[in-house]
Amino acid sequence: MHHLVALLSFSVLTVVCGQQVGTQMAETHPNLSIQKCATGSGCQIQSTSVALDANWRWLHTTSGTTNCYTGNTWDASLCPDPVTCAENCALDGVDYTGTYGITSTGSALTLKLVTHGPYSTNIGSRVYLMANDTTYQMFNLKNQEFTFDVDMSNLPCGLNGALYFVEMDADGGLSKYPNNKAGAKYGTGYCDSQCPNDIKFINGEANVLDWVPSSNDANSGTGMYGTCCSEMDIWEANNNAAAYTAHVCTVHSQTRCSGSDCGDGDDRYNGVCDKDGCDFSSYRMGDTSFLGMGKTVDTSSKFTVVTQFITADNTTTGTLTEIRRIYVQNGKVIQNSKVNIPKMTTYDSVTDVFCNDQKTTFGDPNSFEARGGLATMGQALSKGMVLVLSLWDDYADNMLWLDSDYPLNKSISTPGVARGTCATTSGVPSDVESQNPDSSVTFSNIKFGDIGSTYTL
Ligand SMILES: *[C@@H]1O[C@H](CO)[C@@H](O)[C@H](O)[C@H]1NC(C)=O
Ligand SMILES: *[C@@H]1O[C@H](CO)[C@@H](O)[C@H](O)[C@H]1NC(C)=O
Ligand SMILES: *[C@@H]1O[C@H](CO)[C@@H](O)[C@H](O)[C@H]1NC(C)=O
Ligand SMILES: *[C@@H]1O[C@H](CO)[C@@H](O)[C@H](O)[C@H]1NC(C)=O
Repeated sequence: MHHLVALLSFSVLTVVCGQQVGTQMAETHPNLSIQKCATGSGCQIQSTSVALDANWRWLHTTSGTTNCYTGNTWDASLCPDPVTCAENCALDGVDYTGTYGITSTGSALTLKLVTHGPYSTNIGSRVYLMANDTTYQMFNLKNQEFTFDVDMSNLPCGLNGALYFVEMDADGGLSKYPNNKAGAKYGTGYCDSQCPNDIKFINGEANVLDWVPSSNDANSGTGMYGTCCSEMDIWEANNNAAAYTAHVCTVHSQTRCSGSDCGDGDDRYNGVCDKDGCDFSSYRMGDTSFLGMGKTVDTSSKFTVVTQFITADNTTTGTLTEIRRIYVQNGKVIQNSKVNIPKMTTYDSVTDVFCNDQKTTFGDPNSFEARGGLATMGQALSKGMVLVLSLWDDYADNMLWLDSDYPLNKSISTPGVARGTCATTSGVPSDVESQNPDSSVTFSNIKFGDIGSTYTL
């Protein structure tokens, strides 16, 4: 639902970067192999890797090592306006493990919450899967399934180990925007359905206009522009709760927004994207014993998550009609939980009928249907989406929307309010970062392909 980025601050660091490319450190993407599977012919390994998002990177002068951005403020002389800033500043390569706590071995990727590097303290991270050094891997998942293993045993309340797809450009906007010289190799071009306005460069220009440093996040701020696109959240979770959520937009590629189009504040339902999405969380949908520590899907150890994108005619060109979920743990296939909410049918997947029924029952505005529902999600999936893996804490809502009761001004007995067992006082980023700095999530064994080809019954 909310993707606010915690950025690292370089206090002493003398490195340089903007939308140009810096030369202080070579950019070496950690390898993370995945498998492509087909019915009858098994799975084949693909040699992919990951790139860290540009927002986390050191931004410094192209000619030297002066910071263009420090903490949550821009250097006014290097960045007097969006274009000059993009010309003056460069993004550099990074030390994935030492600075950002990102490690990969073969087919497994681990993201750590707090990393004390030589020059900075980093919080969380967001990486994209790369087909090669300069291009994001594009996924076309209609009439296909997507599978991965997750270990969240070390991921407590307030954190979100997320695996999701967004409709970014394959080259990170390099060819569309001449001021963007860095491209996908340096993790540029992010967008999602929250139209985040904490992104430092959008469309190759710095987001310096009307920049306001965050009041509670020393590493983040917000500018005049946001960056919007459809988003398929396969997995947003910690060891107390999990949700999968489709979010659609009326724009059909990465799009810069301003004003009410961004859907900020009172304009939440007036923006180009559906910020609420249509979500399936087993706990929220009434099965409180399904997923968690020691529950049917036991988050105290690793398990497999399968997501199937079903089309009306069982072809890759058909209309998306259903998103199904299956779990596998300790060799046992576990079908998704069924809805257990008074007056609702016992749905066990996301369909337009489920979404409409859920919105009506919970009294939520149906901004998903208003922007085209599952058919629109299907259009994004056929165009191709980029895989994002991230770990974050929530400076806006303490992740209560995922793992606790939300919103807090409604009675907990109102259907849809209870979402997990975490305390309503949990998830405050300063608490999580100081009390559980070594929290981490591991994603592994990513596979995609024909329905039924990525896991064994
Ligand atoms: C990543 O994989 C490539 C082959 O695809 C290999 O050449 C390279 O050495 C690997 N990098 C690391 C850091 O292991
Ligand atoms: C990287 O992958 C993309 C998409 O598969 C391809 O179009 C491009 O030619 C590749 N580039 C290199 C340098 O291999
Ligand atoms: C699609 O496949 C499902 C499951 O195999 C089957 O039940 C359904 O009848 C098929 N639909 C069409 C239109 O072929
Ligand atoms: C209830 O809380 C939500 C989320 O915090 C907020 O958007 C909404 O305006 C509040 N409603 C009332 C009636 O205070």
